[in-house]
Amino acid sequence: MVIMKLLPVILLFYLFNSVIAVNKNPTVFISILARNKAHTLPYFLSYLQNLRYPKERLSLWIQSDHNSDNTIEILKVWISSVQHLYHSIITDFDEKPNLYVGEDGPGHWTEERFRNVIDMRESALNHARKIWADYYWTIDCDVFLTNPDTLNYMISKDYVVVAPMLKSGELYSNFWYGMTSDYYYYRTEEYKPILYRENKGCFDVPMIHSCVLINLKTIESDYLTYVPTKIPNFDGPTDDIIAFAISANRSGISLHVCNEDEFGFITTPLEKDDNISIDEEQVISIKLDILTIEDEINVVEPLKKELNETSLKSLSFMPDFVDPYHKRPMTLGEIGCFLSHFNIWKEIVAKKYKTSLILEDDIRFEPYFRMKVHNLMNEINVRPDWDLIYFGRKRLQESSEPWVKGAHMLVEAGYSYWTLGYALSLQGAHKLLDGDPLSRLVPVDEYIPILFDKHPQSNYKEYFPRRDLVALSAAPLLLYPIHYTGETGYISDTEDSKIIHRHEKEDL
Ligand SMILES: *[C@@H]1O[C@H](CO)[C@@H](O)[C@H](O)[C@H]1NC(C)=O
Ligand SMILES: *[C@@H]1O[C@H](CO)[C@@H](O)[C@H](O)[C@H]1NC(C)=O
Ligand SMILES: *[C@@H]1O[C@H](CO)[C@@H](O)[C@H](O)[C@H]1NC(C)=O
Repeated sequence: MVIMKLLPVILLFYLFNSVIAVNKNPTVFISILARNKAHTLPYFLSYLQNLRYPKERLSLWIQSDHNSDNTIEILKVWISSVQHLYHSIITDFDEKPNLYVGEDGPGHWTEERFRNVIDMRESALNHARKIWADYYWTIDCDVFLTNPDTLNYMISKDYVVVAPMLKSGELYSNFWYGMTSDYYYYRTEEYKPILYRENKGCFDVPMIHSCVLINLKTIESDYLTYVPTKIPNFDGPTDDIIAFAISANRSGISLHVCNEDEFGFITTPLEKDDNISIDEEQVISIKLDILTIEDEINVVEPLKKELNETSLKSLSFMPDFVDPYHKRPMTLGEIGCFLSHFNIWKEIVAKKYKTSLILEDDIRFEPYFRMKVHNLMNEINVRPDWDLIYFGRKRLQESSEPWVKGAHMLVEAGYSYWTLGYALSLQGAHKLLDGDPLSRLVPVDEYIPILFDKHPQSNYKEYFPRRDLVALSAAPLLLYPIHYTGETGYISDTEDSKIIHRHEKEDL
């Protein structure tokens, strides 16, 4: 009887007891390699700090070396303000050398740099095993986890190895769907639908990198390594992420990438050509869609070589432009430059390229040029009638240039000099050719503003009755000249000092 009366109490006791027995969050060891990341670190660290996960269950190991910026200073300031929140933060900083032997710059990966990265990643992984962390999480500083539940989500998936899918604004991401037999990237049909989240879920893929969680409680995880020489009969390149992917495959471990939710972003890696200057080719045009992955560069040879007295006679200059002394209004360089651009316009029309990017030599790219171009081109649908977008130019008018309605990166172009780089639509190329500039030649950077009707010299306009080119400009600009006129080292093909009248009106 007594027992019957007590039964609800006893049941309640057990129930209550089981409810209050809550597990602590698993311990996660986070490995961060930071090199020359001063420009992205503040964002990276803020997102890391904002993760909804008890910080006392997180241990960080931050390695940084061979920097040519203030990466280490930024890390130190951040660590001193958050150190007490985390279970531990270990640092391994080497402040001295800036570059590896034989390295040209941040985009250059030498064999030694690869080996060093492999060693750092492997020692971090082994350290996590040694301290019995439940999870090892490697996250690169160009990853921005805008979703604060990313870590909880990854843990909840209960895979041996998992990555959240990250977007970059272009085709780059932190996973591959295909890998060649010699371990290189291979584009497949399945890639884009996953990237664009048309196909949602968790996918078994041959490669994940940059933000990867490993469940160290699993026996299988013991076989994972970043070191190629630890993998029997491995014949691939000396590359940490490839070795890791192959070690997983050889151990029967699937790599998962999940896109069920939005997790965050990854920036496109610096490529060697992000700061190249093209010396030999005077003008190159690149189809925009190839700015993403496949580099099919359509190089147009400089025409200057072909210029001679005979071919010059076939050209006629705009009367107002003729220099009375030289009987020629433009330098040979300017003429060659015009013809190079003109030939590209012809090629664009002949090949019906929808969108082209035309780049001169001697240009300096803004960091993350490709990503910025991609973002800008995503914005262009607010002006579907656009013809030309300046990526680099010299603004000449004081008057302000209005923003394109609905855009954040585009302004209506005013009178500008230089044609460092511009995107051209097929329609724009048609308009530039239809103006028939060879019969009344002016320098190309005068011609374009005439056609978009912003040239201040009204007498020029009458030679070109149709001036309806829709010209916009990136704001801020994405390209700059390597040297400004007047700076030491400035040499220009197009600005021969013999004929200078068109520059007298500006402050060169
Ligand atoms: C290992 O790679 C092979 C060849 O690509 C593939 O068929 C197999 O499914 C992979 N194994 C795992 C566990 O992912
Ligand atoms: C890239 O820029 C750096 C710094 O300006 C320079 O030292 C390096 O030579 C450049 N690399 C290439 C491949 O042009
Ligand atoms: C001048 O250039 C034209 C066109 O490029 C070429 O056909 C011609 O042979 C050249 N003449 C001389 C003398 O080089």
